Amino acid sequence: MYLADPSTLPSDLWGMMRSTMQLLQQGLFCLAAFITSANVLTNGAQGVQGVAGQYLLGLGIGDITGPVVETNMMGYASLAQTDTGLHMRQRSRAWIVADANNATNRFVFINADIAMGDTGIRRSIVAALSEQYPQYYNNDNIALVSTHQHSGVGGYLEDLLPQLTALGYVKATADAIVAGTVLAVQRAHNNVAPGKLSFGNTSIVDGNINRSPSAYLANPADERARYQYDQDKDLTLLRFDDASGNARGFLSFFAVHGTSLYENNTLVSSDNKGMAAYLYEHMVEPNSMPGNNTFIAGFTQSNVGDTSPNTLGAFCESPGQPWDGQACEFEHSTCGNKTEDCHGRGPGFRISDFESNRIIAQHQVDAASLLMGQTLPSVSGSLKYVHTYMNMSFRQFQLPNGTTVETCPPAMGFSFAGGTTDGPGAFDFIQGDNSTSQNPFWEIVKSAVTPVPDQQQIDCQAPKPILLNTGFAHFPYEWSPSTVDIQMLRVGNFVMLIMPGELTTMAGRRLRDAVRTKLIAQGVIGDDAYVVIAGPANTYGHYVTTPEEYTVQRYEGASTIFGKWTLDSYIDKYGSLVSYLADSATGQPPSDPAPVDQTSKAISLQTGVVFDSAGIGHSYGDVMTDVRTTSAYTAGEAVIATFVGANPRNNLRLEQTFLSVDQLVNNQWTSVRSDSHPSTTYQWTRTSTILGTSTVNITWVVEDGTPAGTYRLTYFGDQKPFIGDIGPFVGHSSSFTISA
Ligand SMILES: *[C@@H]1O[C@H](CO)[C@@H](O)[C@H](O)[C@H]1NC(C)=O
Ligand SMILES: *[C@@H]1O[C@H](CO)[C@@H](O)[C@H](O)[C@H]1NC(C)=O
Ligand SMILES: *[C@@H]1O[C@H](CO)[C@@H](O)[C@H](O)[C@H]1NC(C)=O
Ligand SMILES: *[C@@H]1O[C@H](CO)[C@@H](O)[C@H](O)[C@H]1NC(C)=O
Ligand SMILES: *[C@@H]1O[C@H](CO)[C@@H](O)[C@H](O)[C@H]1NC(C)=O
Ligand SMILES: *[C@@H]1O[C@H](CO)[C@@H](O)[C@H](O)[C@H]1NC(C)=O
Ligand SMILES: *[C@@H]1O[C@H](CO)[C@@H](O)[C@H](O)[C@H]1NC(C)=O
Ligand SMILES: *[C@@H]1O[C@H](CO)[C@@H](O)[C@H](O)[C@H]1NC(C)=O
Ligand SMILES: *[C@@H]1O[C@H](CO)[C@@H](O)[C@H](O)[C@H]1NC(C)=O
Repeated sequence: MYLADPSTLPSDLWGMMRSTMQLLQQGLFCLAAFITSANVLTNGAQGVQGVAGQYLLGLGIGDITGPVVETNMMGYASLAQTDTGLHMRQRSRAWIVADANNATNRFVFINADIAMGDTGIRRSIVAALSEQYPQYYNNDNIALVSTHQHSGVGGYLEDLLPQLTALGYVKATADAIVAGTVLAVQRAHNNVAPGKLSFGNTSIVDGNINRSPSAYLANPADERARYQYDQDKDLTLLRFDDASGNARGFLSFFAVHGTSLYENNTLVSSDNKGMAAYLYEHMVEPNSMPGNNTFIAGFTQSNVGDTSPNTLGAFCESPGQPWDGQACEFEHSTCGNKTEDCHGRGPGFRISDFESNRIIAQHQVDAASLLMGQTLPSVSGSLKYVHTYMNMSFRQFQLPNGTTVETCPPAMGFSFAGGTTDGPGAFDFIQGDNSTSQNPFWEIVKSAVTPVPDQQQIDCQAPKPILLNTGFAHFPYEWSPSTVDIQMLRVGNFVMLIMPGELTTMAGRRLRDAVRTKLIAQGVIGDDAYVVIAGPANTYGHYVTTPEEYTVQRYEGASTIFGKWTLDSYIDKYGSLVSYLADSATGQPPSDPAPVDQTSKAISLQTGVVFDSAGIGHSYGDVMTDVRTTSAYTAGEAVIATFVGANPRNNLRLEQTFLSVDQLVNNQWTSVRSDSHPSTTYQWTRTSTILGTSTVNITWVVEDGTPAGTYRLTYFGDQKPFIGDIGPFVGHSSSFTISA
């Protein structure tokens, strides 16, 4: 039987582990991923005729949605957050920028609707693209940036710690992300054409707040005095035009956590960045199905570490306690000395987290629209990129004042377990030893956890008290990365720092300022050098605080895994590489060894679908509860139908849909909504594990302005018989009317 609910898991965990190991030996979990060599570019490309101030630009989008049921969701690290359906599909979007005089000189910026970049995912994407287009894409010029959303499908990361609540590695999730991202880049590659770039910025005051203000206050007063806010309020936008000046899309950078949707949501979605992208793309191409658009809107994450979209602040939800409804305690974000009841509230709190999500998305859409409506200064000049790996274990380097310091092998501090006001964020073992038996994956690996830190590690990580000494946990594979990707992309005076982690606001400011100062001081770019941060990207190196914030050891400090000098190590490394962005620069810097592939060792406890059944007397797609046919629906009402279903893990229907809303036009049914419209939801429920039966609910909340007429709901499923092949089926509700 499949293992939907952890409480139904067999108690014989060691038996399960043995069978897992047997599967491993059979090679079922091997991923054919490999690390490509860095230097595959050739000089043989046909040069495209260059035009001054122009670049070659390509934009694309692809569906990356993994299994929408029975799979842990990624971000909050909550064992209970197992997905039960779909709100909006996750997408990767890709922007290619190439030198008009030398088309092989290019980079591709990927903005994926996932919680964080990952070394294993990136390795597979680089392998696929560099094999297909050897002269164009390589390990150095592909940036895999995440939106840092917390409502997507989990299990795709290759290091062990983030797999804990996903019951190990989920290959189906990783495969979907790789396939959809490669498709997005292929589409972008196929529409590369001459065009222009321009950029500008504006501010969004109500789009974020600081969720660790007490840590921010540890930064020097004179430094804080240089800024109006304890958050970056600027949205920077890089506009992509065709050669005639028609907009093809944009990339925007704004720091706000993808935690608008709460941890108790179990419908796969894209949080505020993915919602903003949908809203903008829909505004430009209202008649395109989601994901079938050509205008590509990019809402990219930035120095996100201490930001929150829960802009009303954090309050106690402690029914019956005197502090219920009060603001959480300032220093520790507690309610009655406990973290569990302290929850951040978004701007739509009185309505729902989905409303908060829409509002935070709309703020970003409005800022982007404002900039797209202006004439922005154009970008011209060299296109350059640099990539290297940095091993953070005991990396020694000099601070600008000459003092030698070092970073440490990774470790998580105690406050990591405390989580944040956006969600407990803790892996379930922190709830006390005896609750860990709920998680069979943890049972397998816990004996390996936290080899007792030695004195060198304790001193190195001080003042962090070490909860999980992950840098020393190598069984059954690495728990945390020791090696991170350092990458910068430059076009003209615009420089993107591709960041393998979540910098706090002040950490991001220090890094940007340091790199910009170096770019100018070394004559790489003039005084108009403009630097933005994009991340968490490529490898997930967790958080990066300033050393001052680190001493406070809130969640962000406790999750700054390489110790107090993590930020300064990044500043040192990024700063040392600016010469590779100079007009005349060639080649790539020396690199520490690339991280070793973990996916071939990955353990997965998620089993496949065993079989489906429609149940006696039923067929797949039969309507169990129909829409209302007796009277018309009006805007704002929810149309719901329940169908005899099958497990959607049988077919992810990438680039397709699990449902449609069809309108009768000239006596023909025409699809007008898909499963990725925010007005529709798809929910799946297993009704009997033994019989294999399940039901699907399709809901459509009729939008304002929906034309009056005749409609129906359609369900697209795929069923797996006990013996034989998976096969598709379709179900329709009765037709219903919408009145004006
Ligand atoms: C074109 O760009 C590629 C990649 O940066 C570089 O290796 C090559 O030398 C360039 N060719 C010319 C003619 O500059
Ligand atoms: C926004 O743009 C203005 C004008 O170029 C610049 O002075 C300012 O520093 C920019 N803001 C940020 C955060 O870079
Ligand atoms: C989800 O969690 C939020 C925050 O704790 C709470 O306000 C809301 O009522 C919960 N929603 C449901 C459906 O339980
Ligand atoms: C996607 O767009 C193309 C071209 O604009 C169109 O031919 C196709 O039917 C669309 N597909 C869907 C599913 O809407
Ligand atoms: C919280 O801890 C403080 C200090 O230990 C104590 O004085 C206070 O009574 C505690 N509050 C509650 C509600 O337990
Ligand atoms: C990283 O550096 C440390 C300290 O020099 C070394 O022990 C370790 O083997 C290195 N890790 C890798 C993957 O090269
Ligand atoms: C250099 O700066 C660091 C960090 O602020 C400080 O700990 C150290 O004492 C300084 N060294 C000197 C020689 O001033
Ligand atoms: C679990 O831990 C709690 C608190 O330490 C204790 O009261 C309880 O007896 C434990 N339960 C089991 C089954 O060990
Ligand atoms: C589907 O709708 C029915 C009727 O409204 C409800 O009882 C059931 O819980 C719903 N199931 C899901 C998966 O939402």
